Amino acid sequence: MKILVIGNGGREHAIAWKLLQSEKIQEVICIPGNGGTATMPKCRNYAGRVDDFDEIIKVARTNDISLVVVGPELPLSLGISDRLQSQNIKVFGPTQAGAEIEASKSWAKSLMQEAGIPTAKAEIFTDAAAAKAYVATQGAPIVVKADGLAAGKGVIVAPTVEEAQTAIDRLFESNFEVLVVEECLTGEEVSVLALTDGLTIRPLLPAQDHKRIGEGDTGANTGGMGAYAPAPILTPELMARVQTEVLEPAIATLQKRGIDYRGVLYAGLMISPQGDLKVLEFNCRFGDPETQAILPLLETPLEDLLLACSERKLEAQPPIAWKPGVAACVVLSSGGYPGDYQTGKVITGIAEAEDRGATVFHAGTQSQQEKLLTDGGRVFGVTGVGENFAKAIDRAYAAVNCIQFEAMYYRRDIGHRMTS
Ligand code: AMP
Ligand code: GLY
Repeated sequence: MKILVIGNGGREHAIAWKLLQSEKIQEVICIPGNGGTATMPKCRNYAGRVDDFDEIIKVARTNDISLVVVGPELPLSLGISDRLQSQNIKVFGPTQAGAEIEASKSWAKSLMQEAGIPTAKAEIFTDAAAAKAYVATQGAPIVVKADGLAAGKGVIVAPTVEEAQTAIDRLFESNFEVLVVEECLTGEEVSVLALTDGLTIRPLLPAQDHKRIGEGDTGANTGGMGAYAPAPILTPELMARVQTEVLEPAIATLQKRGIDYRGVLYAGLMISPQGDLKVLEFNCRFGDPETQAILPLLETPLEDLLLACSERKLEAQPPIAWKPGVAACVVLSSGGYPGDYQTGKVITGIAEAEDRGATVFHAGTQSQQEKLLTDGGRVFGVTGVGENFAKAIDRAYAAVNCIQFEAMYYRRDIGHRMTS
């Protein structure tokens, strides 16, 4: 079987890597892939854009592809799954209508309200004056969210009314037409990525990521600087509640809206100190870097699960099997990220890092004439697996210490909550 993976991040490298552990997989093609997917055996990159659906269909047809797995939200929100389905090409990832759950925060909020899913109290605004007046009545801290895809830059957790009002002006001025203003929740964040075929829902191990750039979870928000799984905060009791209070009502309400949702339903949750759970956001795809911490623990062949979702046969699958142990992933980024950074820096030490028993997932890298160069903000996710978090984290950092490139940055405290 041949599989086409769309995307170029660490998440897509992890998906391709996991697929290739199965003897059933003859080849994985990545569009466009990165320096890691370029050099894995039985894996090759095809230079193309994730939103060039005609080209993706052509590659799927000429290579006799059994399944297209879509990594990022952008092509999903542009309707890649609708296009592929219309050509009878199997795809893992929701349709454009389903991807609204991530692409529009106001749509997701109204779905949650309709489904009775616990979430922060919120109001939706289309003009700045009304939004600012609402903030003044609610007080701070308060959260302002842009409605569209904003690459992690559309959410402002404002500690004061003034900062919320400045954020409202800035977002309307930068051409967002709809804002969600919501109650600020406190507690610990955790992500549940569930596989679904639109009927059956199978959650993966819960994961936590470190969204902030700085140690001690400080500084600017990023795509994610590290992750670990399984997150012990989600006890079996809380997982059961996530299933019945969040995932099942979400899928039922999607069905009610005529949406046949097949892919990952990712629930970003806040667990309060009292143990209440509320949904912060839904995503329509695998998380990055959560995937780099979850997939190394997966025992079940990934293609069985993804194909079953695409074919609406998830119920017939045996329960998902996991390897013993835990995993931690440390992200290495280009200095300056999530702001401006340079690319094209020569990378060394990958073979030595892998010799330390960790798995090096590439993100922003490219191979050029035998050299490996940096090519993005997040450059690698280095995952260690161990019998406990102390060992998994040590294994990841032992490998990180072997890797070098100019202005390399990483947090030294990934998984701190698990070991302190
Ligand atoms: P979102 O894209 O909606 O998950 O927001 C990005 C980040 O902003 C989340 O991971 C949280 O850290 C923070 N955030 C979002 N909504 C809230 C909220 N209602 N209360 C507190 N923090 C929030
Ligand atoms: N790590 C957060 C995300 O993938 O959205």
